[in-house]
Amino acid sequence: MVDVILGLQWGDEGKGKIVDYFAGRYQVIARFQGGPNAGHTLYVEDQKVVLHTIPSGVFHPHTRNLIGNGVVLDPESFSKECGTVEAFGVDLKKNLFISEKAHLIIPTHRALDMASEESKGLEKIGSTLKGIGPAYMDKTGRNGLRVGDLKQPGFRAAYQRLRQMHLRMLDYYRFSGDISPMEEAFEASLDLLRSMNLISGEYFINKCLDEGDQVLAEGAQGSMLDVDFGTYPYVTSSSTISAGVCTGLGVSPSRVGEVIGVTKAYCTRVGSGAFPTELLDGVGESLRVTGNEFGATTGRPRRCGWLDLVALNYVCMLSGVTQLVMTKSDVLDGFDPIRACTGYRCPEGEISRMPFDINGMEIKPQYESFPGWLTETNAISRFEELPQQMKEFIRFVEDRTRVPVKYVSNGPGRDQVLVQDGKEGKKRVPERPKK
Ligand code: GDP
Ligand code: IMO
Ligand code: MG
Repeated sequence: MVDVILGLQWGDEGKGKIVDYFAGRYQVIARFQGGPNAGHTLYVEDQKVVLHTIPSGVFHPHTRNLIGNGVVLDPESFSKECGTVEAFGVDLKKNLFISEKAHLIIPTHRALDMASEESKGLEKIGSTLKGIGPAYMDKTGRNGLRVGDLKQPGFRAAYQRLRQMHLRMLDYYRFSGDISPMEEAFEASLDLLRSMNLISGEYFINKCLDEGDQVLAEGAQGSMLDVDFGTYPYVTSSSTISAGVCTGLGVSPSRVGEVIGVTKAYCTRVGSGAFPTELLDGVGESLRVTGNEFGATTGRPRRCGWLDLVALNYVCMLSGVTQLVMTKSDVLDGFDPIRACTGYRCPEGEISRMPFDINGMEIKPQYESFPGWLTETNAISRFEELPQQMKEFIRFVEDRTRVPVKYVSNGPGRDQVLVQDGKEGKKRVPERPKK
């Protein structure tokens, strides 16, 4: 089966660490969407590593790692990342595979991202400026270039055609930036990409599954940034929910097993767009400082707020989440009270469903309050030893989402994961009760 790890909020839930934690049980780890807008942090030999395009299973020597067709790949950023990973002695020629159908991000995509954001002024998306939106636009607009094209004789000409089209668009935007350094770096990185294992990802993964391998699909971004169901237009340009796994890897829905959703014990967002539980006061600032909430890709301060169960319920429904991982629970150690939003009060009344568009909407979150535990929990190594107040908070989340919080992450370290009930085995939760 293909088990899936998804971010359930606005990204940065701790997916990288959790994928690394689970990776030992899987033979294949596969990224299925997004690109270098992702920043997945993990610790290897106590050293911090941030991965952007390479799957987070890469530090487990027995895993094979796949960059799926649903990913958009920037050769320059990818080649830098290869250097980082190889410095740890990882043999990428042996354990990394790239779908020929993954689309390329070219320098003018990045320039277009900048130009588009600039043109939006205060309405800007807050993009990571990695060229994600323009690359996916070319994919769906049927103008894109794919990794496999790099080995085709017509690549040069096709690249120039696309570049020229982009230059005309940049003229329209009156873009004045200098793209030549980006283009030089792009050219210099193409040979490395050509020398990697460029394969048919869909045949590769289905063969692995036929042979009995366990596959873990690694989501990037978060469900509330999904292009269809997120806080549109303040979203990314890919399908970040479980459905994206099928199109982003070429596997059938019947192959999808556990859907493991990662949520922080509170909430963060980086970039623009609605964030109903955002705290603009000292509590929000304390969450940012205690949680070290600064972007792994851009270094931007993350907006912080309380856990939003309206949003969490919504995305559990969209993806059929079967297990929750609650990360960064330790960040709440010094907070009292702790809150979770159970409804939105809008001019039309109180709602617990996600409305059509919450951007700019007048929302007063309705909170349930919990006494803080005011104890350090980083050093705890068994779920049972967690403070009673934290367990009650977790129980509340389980009741409201009807999904078990099977894992609690109480620190950034590789081994800081607590398993509820000591049951690590895969177990599908009962069907949600039918109304
Ligand atoms: P991702 O994009 O979902 O992989 O998450 P990021 O790597 O962007 O951000 C998560 C941050 O939280 C990283 O700095 C992690 O090292 C850190 N982190 C992950 N899990 C925990 C946790 O349980 N507790 C604490 N304190 N930090 C964590
Ligand atoms: P990981 O995988 C947090 C946000 C950007 C912006 C919006 C669109 O590390 O969780 P884009 O560059 O995709 O055009 O930006 O999405 N965003 C992320 N926020 N974590 C991420 O990835 C993100 N990737 C994109 O901040 O608001
Ligand atoms: Mg991140």
